[in-house]
Amino acid sequence: MKLWDKGSSPDEKTDLFTVGNDRELDLLLVKYDLQASRAHARMLGKIGLLTEAETADLVREIDALMDEEAAGRFTIEAGFEDMHSKIEYLLTEKLGDTGKKIHTARSRNDQVLVALQLYLKDALSDVQHQVRMLFDRLLELAEKHQAVPLPGYTHLQVAMPSSFGLWFSAYAESLIDDVYLLEAARRVADQNPLGSAAGYGSSFPIDREFTTEALGFETMKYNVVAAQMGRGKVERTAATALAAVAATLGKLAMDICLYMSQNFGFVSFPDKLTTGSSIMPHKKNPDIFELIRGKCNLLQAVPGQLGLLTTNLPSGYHRDLQLTKDLLLPAVENLKSCLEMAHTSLGEIQVREDILDDPKYDYLYSVDTLNQRVLEGVPFRDAYRDMAAAIADGSFSPVKGAAHTHAGSLGNLCLDRIADKMAQACADPA
Ligand code: ARG
Repeated sequence: MKLWDKGSSPDEKTDLFTVGNDRELDLLLVKYDLQASRAHARMLGKIGLLTEAETADLVREIDALMDEEAAGRFTIEAGFEDMHSKIEYLLTEKLGDTGKKIHTARSRNDQVLVALQLYLKDALSDVQHQVRMLFDRLLELAEKHQAVPLPGYTHLQVAMPSSFGLWFSAYAESLIDDVYLLEAARRVADQNPLGSAAGYGSSFPIDREFTTEALGFETMKYNVVAAQMGRGKVERTAATALAAVAATLGKLAMDICLYMSQNFGFVSFPDKLTTGSSIMPHKKNPDIFELIRGKCNLLQAVPGQLGLLTTNLPSGYHRDLQLTKDLLLPAVENLKSCLEMAHTSLGEIQVREDILDDPKYDYLYSVDTLNQRVLEGVPFRDAYRDMAAAIADGSFSPVKGAAHTHAGSLGNLCLDRIADKMAQACADPA
């Protein structure tokens, strides 16, 4: 039975096509629909559209559904169009006419929007928390291995000395950029749309300040049309921030895959974090990081997909918007699992300490050697030409400076400053 059933229903094919996998996706949002329904019921009580007893009954039954949901027992069977229908059905089953009153002054359009925005606020802060954990791990690793030399590359050609300290803390500092975007996306989602109803508000004297506060939104979308136009936009903004994290993580995963190859041999992991080959007995493969790389690459398509989905939609609700959930919700889950695996695996990374003993890396020191000549008074260009000639005739002998240990711009890795910057980037520095 549809909420909007007026005596004749769509046929089964129509139903299957229009609902698709929406019920499964809605299961991730039920918790938030219930939170918003609770706030909405209390608001209806406050403005006198529900009696005190009706409000108390609804709040009690919604709380009971929250417990069911938290215990993993909330289901949306075929036959129910979505979570909104199932929640109204359950409340009506328990409370009769009082249950039917919950939908006064709202629409599924603002219901799904508010649920999505509440979900996103949580999801973005969960992701931010995980980014922070990964950041901490990277800084710990940078500190621990700060003086262990690593070749630096440009064009994938041996370039200048680097260090594990620089490499790990580079990814840590880079994650701060992504936190700026996560914070921005959270702010966009932090504007209450509830009360915009179908997208044009309600003629009942609803109290949107009340639901804004009850739901912990920083502010509300005052204009009801703007609130509805947030559908698609909040998802795109969030996906952009998630994609930024994914880009950083995917690049780190690529470095790790490369560095784990025998041709580099810079890092390794215990067997429990690698996989083997069914035919080649010697193999130890970095599948975790390959999958992180692949998943993170795909995550970067999501803002583009959401853009294509929503780009030409005029203002007002359209069913196309249902498909935003199909892109966004798995993206959140995928990124979280990538962050989790990266965090766990990096806790076990093994770094090789004697990489630069191999003479093929001697040329890393050409700039240090050259700089030494400059300090002795030789003009830079002359020193450069002498060095190039020495390299060509094989007489180059490197002066192994300590550049890799103090290559940070302020003469050290500035790990404390990077940590402070991250603390400031996070709205909640805890
Ligand atoms: N499943 C729908 C969505 O995600 C819920 C809103 C349905 N609204 C409607 N007018 N059909 O967009």
